[in-house]
Amino acid sequence: MNVDELKSVAAAIVAQQKGILAADESNPTIKKRFDSIRLESTEENRRRYRELLFTAEGIERYIGGVILFDETLRQSSRDGTPFAELLSSRGIIPGIKVDKGAKALAMYSGDQVTEGLDGLRERLAEYKQLGAKFAKWRGVIQIDQHDIPSAYALHANAHALARYAALCQEAGIVPIVEPEVLMDGPHDMDRCEVVTSHMLEILFAELDAHRVIFEGILLKPNMVIAGMKCTHESNVRQVADATTRCLRRYVPSAVPGIVFLSGGQSAEDATDHLNAMNAMGSYPWPLSFSYGRALQAPVLAAWHGKESNVAMAQKVFFKRCQLNGLAREGKYNRAMEMDK
Ligand code: 13P
Repeated sequence: MNVDELKSVAAAIVAQQKGILAADESNPTIKKRFDSIRLESTEENRRRYRELLFTAEGIERYIGGVILFDETLRQSSRDGTPFAELLSSRGIIPGIKVDKGAKALAMYSGDQVTEGLDGLRERLAEYKQLGAKFAKWRGVIQIDQHDIPSAYALHANAHALARYAALCQEAGIVPIVEPEVLMDGPHDMDRCEVVTSHMLEILFAELDAHRVIFEGILLKPNMVIAGMKCTHESNVRQVADATTRCLRRYVPSAVPGIVFLSGGQSAEDATDHLNAMNAMGSYPWPLSFSYGRALQAPVLAAWHGKESNVAMAQKVFFKRCQLNGLAREGKYNRAMEMDK
């Protein structure tokens, strides 16, 4: 393993105004997204959509890495250039989702654990050959009003994340470590902070026990935010305060970057929250984005599957990338949403 190479890949992904486009929706998930615009989820439509994203002009200024799904890593643009090569030629680092999704945790009704460790060493070797320089694994933590998540579920997910991260580093691939505390449900911000804190504390202990080198990972956490069905809404400043307090307490300063997931926030909220954190002060790590829905929802709505809308949808995408690039520096404000 070349630690300097891991560090330089991680640093390049979160350089200056840059963050990550999470375009690694599995086929069932992209089908849900396409259903929202009444587009059939065929292999060619998925390819056309990813091509729209990856060829948008100017995005390389704000997008340092793209997370791909297995199928997409094997696809090419219409001129025959493999997507990984196309992205690399633009200075955007290709990455790959390697987990196989969250499944019910046996004997712990309501908790989940992510699968995909079996055969992972061999899959990572192939993904490296195909051009992936970083990977992603998402642990999913559900909150309910009672005793979910269990302490055992946090441990099980932290353990799987750590085994995955060690295998990635062994293969010379930067692991994105994603412990997502879901925003579903009626819980308040305080509950989210308690669960997120507990998860991060256990996660870094497991990473350490698995001899993962903190300097060669990226952390992809949720923000500390109230559940979508919570009756007390949290304002931008409260989210920024609680999230940064939690991260300062539990994330070692050796970690080279924190890239938030958007988790169901609107595109504007996700940008605003990131901006507020960066405007408030400086931190031991760059605070950036690795958004899926918050970068893509407006693009899908503009595209609608139609060739004639591609140029407009690419402009919409560029603008979201740019606004998040500004949020990395604390220079975004909501009025910019109106700018053409
Ligand atoms: P969202 O930003 O839509 O939460 O997706 C990010 C991601 O990669 C989830 O694993």
